[in-house]
Amino acid sequence: MKKRLILLTACVAVMTVVSTSCKKKSDDPAPSPTLYDRVGGNTMVADPVGGAQIQKGRLTLRAVTDSSLYVIAGDAALSKYFPVLLGEVGASNFTGFSALSKNFTDFLCVATGSGDYTYTGKSMVAAHNRATNNRMGSSGDVTSQKVNSADFDTFVGDIGTGLAKNGVTAANNEALVNDLVALLYTTKNDVVQR
Ligand code: HEM
Repeated sequence: MKKRLILLTACVAVMTVVSTSCKKKSDDPAPSPTLYDRVGGNTMVADPVGGAQIQKGRLTLRAVTDSSLYVIAGDAALSKYFPVLLGEVGASNFTGFSALSKNFTDFLCVATGSGDYTYTGKSMVAAHNRATNNRMGSSGDVTSQKVNSADFDTFVGDIGTGLAKNGVTAANNEALVNDLVALLYTTKNDVVQR
């Protein structure tokens, strides 16, 4: 009798597990969109530069990156960190700018939740220390070789300006601006090293 009871209990348990795991998928709540989805996601569109197909999310993030890099490059408060890049751009050499644009865009695609791109640049710690990235600051000026907290905030503010240049502002999409800024701030402990 006891054996039968145990067997019956086990059967009921197995059936419960099976029926729960076979529940119609439509009952599950839809997964919430990632930040990458919210900036365009993986819908393919024509790239205005070159005309090839590109994911809309990546196109948005690349546009924001490029706009922001121009704002940052023109920001006197931050220029001491970018002597190599500014020197190249001043001489109409955009090799470093293109590499930075690609790596920054890849970084944002991955960080916002795209599974289709890979970031192959330096870690955030290594990228922001002249000892491991000789494009950071200049050899004669110690304060340009590592970022401080106030300059980090200025940099993120400049990205806000880059976002606005692409039509996204706190006035028209406060949640998106706040979420993107919060994402950038997740790197602060690694980027700020003095
Ligand atoms: C807001 C968070 C930040 C992110 C997500 C970020 C991301 C990046 C990435 C992905 C790279 C390229 C690394 C590579 O190519 O291996 C980079 C390089 C660099 N970052 Fe940042 N960064 C941030 C903040 C800052 C700040 C606050 C400063 C200075 C104020 C700064 C200065 C630099 C410099 C000077 C480089 C090298 C640029 C070049 O290649 O010429 N970054 N950063």
